[in-house]
Amino acid sequence: MARPTLIAIGNYNDWDVEPMQAEYTLHPVASVEALAHLPEDVCADARALAFKGHAPFGGKQMDLLPNLGLIANYGVGFDAIDVAAADARGIKVTNTPDVLNDDVADLAVAMWIAQARRIPEASDWVRSGTWSEGRDFPLNRKASGRRVGILGLGRIGREIADRLAAFKTEVHYASRSEKDTPGWTYHPDYVSLARAVDDLFIAVVGGPDTAGCVTAEVLDALGPDGVLVNISRGSVVDEGALLDALERGRIRGAALDVFQDEPKIDPRFLRLDNALLQPHQGSGTGETRRAMGQLQRDNVAAFFADRPLLTPVN
Ligand code: DGY
Repeated sequence: MARPTLIAIGNYNDWDVEPMQAEYTLHPVASVEALAHLPEDVCADARALAFKGHAPFGGKQMDLLPNLGLIANYGVGFDAIDVAAADARGIKVTNTPDVLNDDVADLAVAMWIAQARRIPEASDWVRSGTWSEGRDFPLNRKASGRRVGILGLGRIGREIADRLAAFKTEVHYASRSEKDTPGWTYHPDYVSLARAVDDLFIAVVGGPDTAGCVTAEVLDALGPDGVLVNISRGSVVDEGALLDALERGRIRGAALDVFQDEPKIDPRFLRLDNALLQPHQGSGTGETRRAMGQLQRDNVAAFFADRPLLTPVN
């Protein structure tokens, strides 16, 4: 029997490509735009798509693949995919939740501490010989004991809160789904959450429902001693308002793993010494990326075998 056709969009590691090649007639394309250059017969044969990346994938792209039945996303966040357009075409969407919770939460806490204790600058201080010349590194500020807010108490938000609780923090949160977590204080909106805490962690899902919801008003409520940590999506924050707040010292700092137009970064960020910048690497460990690839492939295999999908989104 002929092997099913699978189109894979995005940059995959060899450890993902090899098992896909073993099972399917694989057509890898580097980007969403490159899909338009695939031969018509390949597009017609493709019932499944392995999707990786953050470029928008909407109805126009889906229509290039007339027999598409599954978009298996590599990542927990599926905001790049227009799920309503997929629904309208009877296309199933899956994602890769849970396997990355620990890594993303670890990075969020690491960024928070690194920003407070200025770890990257301190490392440069040593490397540049400044310390050896006899100059002490300037004092920074404590992380433990702060009041912290989690915006979005989903799977990753909860892992972040659990870790922060071990740092003798007072945990506050705002969440659509969870209002009653013993020991942690619920807030009905983002402004009252930001007002109640020292530092604010963004862990909501991306997409139209949360776009721009961290406004200038939220940042002002956080105040001049506050730090914003974002491991969710750049779209959640009004980036212009954040840059203004950082430049004018209306908040103390930010630790950011995600940006609005990433991997392009607004050059204003690069001039700020109160912003710690990361290349969207929350899930970026070998262990987790392998697990994400495996879950993506397991969903594709379930689809072709007519079994229930493991982690359906719609
Ligand atoms: C995710 O899984 O959504 C991560 O942000 C990687 O895109």
